Amino acid sequence: MRCKTLFLGLSCLLFAYYIYAPIPENIEEPWKVRIINAVMKISSLMATLFENMGIMKFEDIFFGLMNLQNTKPVSDENITVIDTDFGGIPVRLFLPKKKSDRLRPAVINIHGGAFCLGSYKMLCYDSLNRLTANRLDAVVIAPDYRLAPQYLFPAALEDCIFVVKFFLQETVLEKYGVDPSRICISGDSSGGTLVATVTQLLQDDPEYKNKLKAQALLYPGLQAIDTMTPSYQEYEHGPFLSRKMAIKLSCLYIAEDEELTKAILRNEHMPEGSRHLFKRVNWSDFLPEKYRMIHVYKEPIFGKLNTSYPELTYSKVSPLIASDSQLQRLPLTYILTCEHDILRDDGLIYVTRLRNAGVPVTHDHVEDGIHGAVSFATAPVYLNLGSRIKDKYISWLEESL
Ligand SMILES: *[C@@H]1O[C@H](CO)[C@@H](O)[C@H](O)[C@H]1NC(C)=O
Ligand SMILES: *[C@@H]1O[C@H](CO)[C@@H](O)[C@H](O)[C@H]1NC(C)=O
Ligand SMILES: *[C@@H]1O[C@H](CO)[C@@H](O)[C@H](O)[C@H]1NC(C)=O
Repeated sequence: MRCKTLFLGLSCLLFAYYIYAPIPENIEEPWKVRIINAVMKISSLMATLFENMGIMKFEDIFFGLMNLQNTKPVSDENITVIDTDFGGIPVRLFLPKKKSDRLRPAVINIHGGAFCLGSYKMLCYDSLNRLTANRLDAVVIAPDYRLAPQYLFPAALEDCIFVVKFFLQETVLEKYGVDPSRICISGDSSGGTLVATVTQLLQDDPEYKNKLKAQALLYPGLQAIDTMTPSYQEYEHGPFLSRKMAIKLSCLYIAEDEELTKAILRNEHMPEGSRHLFKRVNWSDFLPEKYRMIHVYKEPIFGKLNTSYPELTYSKVSPLIASDSQLQRLPLTYILTCEHDILRDDGLIYVTRLRNAGVPVTHDHVEDGIHGAVSFATAPVYLNLGSRIKDKYISWLEESL
C-alpha cells in the first residue's frame, strides 16, 4: 500500500515536471501535446526502471498502452468490417456496402509501431482505414504482421509481402471487386519503412512489377544507417518520440542485444566497409539548405561492434540506401513529413533521392507536425493535427488513385 502511494506520488511529481518540458512554439493545442509528451516520458522512464529491475521488458509497457486502443471489427452504415486472414496472416477488411457498377480502388495499409508494437485493431488505425474506405469508396486491407523481438527481421517484411501478393491474385481482386490498376500501399512510421521496402522488392520482381499503382509514406523511418541526422539531433527529446525510445524499440527488429542498441545510440554501429552506403543517406548532400545550416557533418565511425549484424547494410532494413537504379523503378509516391520529428530527414532525403531518380513524388511537409500524429486522431487524445494529416493523405489518394 505504502509502495503504491509512493509510486503514485512519484508519478505525479514527474508529470508535473515533464508537463513543463519545452515544446516547439508553433504547435497547435500545446497542452494536449504537453500531456502526451509527459505520459510518453514517464512511460519510458518506468519502462527503463522496470527493465533494470527485471520486472518486464522495455517494450512491454508500450505494448500494454497501445493494446488499450484495440477494437473489435464493427461494421457501420457504409462499411462492412471483417477480421479474417490471408493465408494465415490476420487482416482486417473494410468493404464499402454501397452497390457499385464499377470496380473499386484498394488501399493496403500497414500500421506503425517500431516493428514491435501496434495492430490494425487499434482505434486510430481502424478509424483511419474506415475513413479511407468511406471517402474513396475503396476496399481497404489492413494486415497485422509478426512483431519483434519475438520475431526478428525479416518476419514482419515477409508477412507484409505475403499479404500483398495474396491480395494481388486475380481471384482475390475479383472477389472484392477491385480494379487491379488502382491499388496503393500505405503506412506510417515503421509501417512506412515496410511499405517502402515492399514496393522496392515488388518492383524488382518481374511477376509483380507495376502491380502497385502508388505508395504513400506518412512520417516514415527509412534508414538505420545514420542516427545523427539534423532531425535526430534537433528532436532528440521529442515531442512524443525521443531518439532513445525510437532506437531502443526499433533496434529489436534486428536483435535483442544491448550492445547493438548502445552502438546505434552512439551512431557507431555500422560495420567496416560500409562507407559507400553513407553516400545514399548523406544529409549534407540531400537535405535542403535550411535544414543543414546549423549542423556540421561528422564522418561515421565504423567497426566498433564486435558482433556482426549484416542486416544493418540491407536495403530491406533501410530502404533509403537502395541504389538509384532501384529507385528509378518506383511508382507514384506520396511522402508526408513532420517538422518536429526525428524521422523528418529520412523522409526529406527520400523525397530528394526519388525526385533525382525521376519518380513522381508528392511531398506534404507539415510545419507544426509531430511524429505519430495520426495515432492521436481519436479519443482519448484527439489532436486536430492528426485529422489534418489524414485529410492531406486521403485527399492525395482521391486525386491519385
Ligand atoms: C456514411 O456515409 C455518409 C455519406 O458519405 C456520411 O455522411 C456518413 O457520415 C457515413 N457514416 C459513417 C458512420 O461514417
Ligand atoms: C557526405 O557529404 C559531404 C559533403 O558533400 C562529404 O564531405 C562527406 O565526405 C560525405 N560523407 C560520406 C560518408 O559520404
Ligand atoms: C570488443 O572487442 C574488443 C577488442 O577485442 C574488446 O576490448 C571489447 O571489450 C569488446 N567489447 C565487447 C562489448 O565485447
